[in-house]
Order: sequence, then C-alpha cells, then structure tokens
Amino acid sequence: MADKKSDIGLVGLAVMGQNLALNIADHGFQISVYNRTASKTDAFVAENPNTPGGLVGTQTLEEFVQSLERPRKVIILVQAGRATDAVIDGLTELLEPDDIIIDGGNALWTDTIRREKDLNAKGFRFVGSGVSGGEEGARFGPSLMPGGKESAWNELKPIWEAIAAKVDADTGKPIDGAEPGKPVEGGVTCTTYIGENGAGHYVKMVHNGIEYGDMQMICEAYQLMGNLLGMEPKEMSETFGTWNEGVLDSFLIEITTDILQQTDPETGVPFVDIVLDTAGQKGTGKWTAVNALDMGISAPLIAEAVFARCISAVKDERVAASEVLKADVPGFDGDKEEFTQAIHDALYCSKICSYAQGFQLMREAQNEYDWNLNFGEISMIWRGGCIIRAAFLQKIFEAYQRDENLANLLLDPFFKSEIERCEANWRKVVAAGAIHGVPIPAFSSALAYYDSYRSARLPANLLQAQRDYFGAHTYERTDKPRGEFFHIDWPEADRPQLKM
Ligand code: ATR
Repeated sequence: MADKKSDIGLVGLAVMGQNLALNIADHGFQISVYNRTASKTDAFVAENPNTPGGLVGTQTLEEFVQSLERPRKVIILVQAGRATDAVIDGLTELLEPDDIIIDGGNALWTDTIRREKDLNAKGFRFVGSGVSGGEEGARFGPSLMPGGKESAWNELKPIWEAIAAKVDADTGKPIDGAEPGKPVEGGVTCTTYIGENGAGHYVKMVHNGIEYGDMQMICEAYQLMGNLLGMEPKEMSETFGTWNEGVLDSFLIEITTDILQQTDPETGVPFVDIVLDTAGQKGTGKWTAVNALDMGISAPLIAEAVFARCISAVKDERVAASEVLKADVPGFDGDKEEFTQAIHDALYCSKICSYAQGFQLMREAQNEYDWNLNFGEISMIWRGGCIIRAAFLQKIFEAYQRDENLANLLLDPFFKSEIERCEANWRKVVAAGAIHGVPIPAFSSALAYYDSYRSARLPANLLQAQRDYFGAHTYERTDKPRGEFFHIDWPEADRPQLKM
C-alpha cells in the first residue's frame, strides 16, 4: 500500500468503474480502488502499473477507507438499486462525519433523494452524479451531472472538472486530444453543479430519455431510406455522413455512418442486415416516460421511443402478424433526392420537439423538487462527453442565453425559424409514412406535439363535456373566468345505458 493517502476512492470495478478510475489517475490524482471480488482489483491494478496519479488496490473495505485522505471521497459505481444500498451500508460503518459518498451509477433520482437524506442524518455528505458517455466517456472525458449539497460538490469539483469532457467555448465542438496524462488546456468543461439532492440523477435520466428519442428518430430515417427509397446501407452511410456536416452533426449520426459501412465478418453482408431487429433497454427511458405521465407533462416522443423498443421485442408475433395484416399501400414514386432532404428535415424538426419535451420535463421537475436548474448550463455540459453530444446543443445553449425563462424551446426565435424552414418537408414525410405504411412513431408524434402546442383551441372541450356527461366532472366555460366550474343536469330520459 502507498504511504501517501489517496485523493479519492472508487468502489466497483466493472467496465465503467475501471475506466473512470483510469481517467482520474491519468489526471494526476491518486485513487484507491475496491471491488467485492478481490481478484478483479488485483488484475486491474496489475494491468495498469504506471498511471500518473497511481492506483492503490485494496482488499477489504476497511483497508480501502483507511487509505483515503480526509474528508474521504468515495465514488460508488456498482449496479443501481440494491447493490448501491449494500455498498453504502458497508461504507457508513467505516466512514467518519463529513466524508463524502458519490454515487456515479444510473440511480433513480428518488433513490438519490432518499439516500442523501439518510446519509445527511448520519453526518455524511452525498453527491448523486450522472456519468454519461459510456465506457469511452468514462475513460477519456464524460459529461458529469452532479447533484447534492454545494459544499460536497466543491470538494469534488477539482477532480470532476479535470476528468470531464471539454468543448470549444464558441463552437461547442468537443476538443480532441484528451491524451492520458495530458489534461486539455482551455475549453468549457462538461460538468457543472446541477442542484440539490436528486437533481443530477434526474437530469441524467432525462438525458437518457432524449437519447432514446434521438436513436429512434435516426432509425426511422434509416427505415424510410430503405423502404421507400430502396437505398442500400452503404449509400445511407454516405447520406448520414453528409448530414453529419450540418445541423444534425452529432455522435449518434456519426456512429450510424460507421455502422452502415460495416460488413458482417462472417458472411460479408452489411452488418445491420444481420442484426436481429429486437431492441433491449435498461430502463432509464421508461423512467423518463413514466415520470412525464406522473407529472402530467407531455413528452410523447420519449414515450414513443420506449414503445418502439417494446414492439420491436415481440419479433415472433410481428412476423406472424405480417402474414395476416397485409395493408394495401402504394409504392413510393417520388423524387429520391428531394425525399432524402425531406427525411433530413423531418429528423431535424422532430429532434427540436424531442429536446423541447425533455426541457419541459426538467422545468416541471424543478418546481416539484424545488431545484433551480440552469438549462443553458445543462445543454452546455451535454455538448461533449455524452451519447447525445451534438452541435445542436450549442443552439439550445444560445436559446437559454437569450431567455433563461423560455417557456418552450419551440418559441425561441432560432428554433421557430428553423421549423418554419423545414416544416413542409416534415409534413411530407409524416404523410408519406402513413400513405406507404412505414411506421415512424417519433416523427409523427413530434408533429402532433408541435401542432397541439401551437393550437389555441384543442378538442378537449368535447372531452370535458363527455366527462361531465358520464361522471359529473364539471367544466369551465369560454365566457367565464378560469377556475369557475359548472355542471349540466343531463336529462335522465333517453340517456344511453352502459348495460346493453
Ligand atoms: P457492468 O458495467 O459490467 O454491467 P454492473 O453489473 O452494473 O457492471 O456492476 C457490476 C459491479 O457492481 C461489479 O463491480 C460488482 O462487483 P463484483 O465484481 O464483485 O461482482 C459490483 N456489485 C454488484 N453487486 C454488489 C454488491 N451487492 N456489493 C458490492 N458490489 C457489488
């Protein structure tokens, strides 16, 4: 064991834990590591003998805790849920007042709120931090979303700022060159204090919900290119590659360009053609959609993205149904080049709506949990180091710079004019999906959201009348002030009966 106490410690040496530990050590911090299965610790330390800060392997939690400089800072990166609670319980036996536990897993934000309360009551400090960017992000620069008491964040800040991704302040482009041991000079760091208790994990969850939406939208573009335009993966790859030079420039478009180039090593066919069309999920998209329903906030695109994965998963049923439900739809005979541009525009407009929905969720959650979220800063720290990293986030950042109380991204002058510019193509694509029988739930749901949001009058008047009819739920009147409720005594005679 090293003579010097470590700057920080990390529990949980699965893929994310190992990569984050190496990133921290590369930036000159000495880090102690502990894993329940000690052989993993030994192998990890043996494989990485010469990091600038140094890795200190420990065999027991006692040894681990004793190896840390006070106030101790312990990052937990184990499975979210019960494993996190088990590790926290073990640590609290050994830590001392003022020590800080940092949960870097994908915790449900309400668990983070509960944990912080419990730990504060015992005299400890707690930071629930979203860590985005997967394995690569953890290793070379993640986007980090810390929540908790500001005093705890201030202790963690130098390390979090050193290891996070960096982007160019003016363009928002990620700065490459995060070579191990050579911290990037300048640029904006992709971490900032998000807010009290569960705010960091909440924002990370919305990030993941947005990521579900982004992925689904790209898949819909891919399906339209294939089904309607007969494009082969290589040609699609070229198109996505071109899109990546413009407003859609993002990590997910970039990896899609690569994936569509790839051939299957075994058969030589395009790799995407050999991948079974059933999607998995770990639950953060579902949490986002459930939370939207719980708070009564309209975020249909994120929900559609989750449902799209659900229906993809019933492959056998779909194959059977495809033999029975044969829609009589015409083939596509439009102009290929024009329609490709239309798909681009549909993706762009839908993406604007998706982000608008994500930010609406955060806006409501901050009222619910008494947070004070800075939407400009949140979009800024998503510009690098995470899966939804995109040039587009710079525009969201600028929108909130113009008006920090913006009611909806759709109302920002830039996004308003972008949608106006691309709207006709968006409508064309959604209509084509319906006419030619191609399911594009995210594109069409986004358009319905846009059209609903810009409607001064929706048909909910009839809906409320129905509620008053069968349940005496009352209604407000267009000719009376809001908040006054009325009820009509619907005549008993001639009423339709529920029992036939
Ligand atoms: P992956 O990234 O591989 O999916 P994970 O399953 O999310 O990882 O997390 C696994 C990590 O959580 C491992 O470090 C695991 O320790 P082991 O190597 O001993 O399995 C750790 N872990 C899971 N449950 C734990 C528990 N109850 N107590 C302590 N560590 C636990």
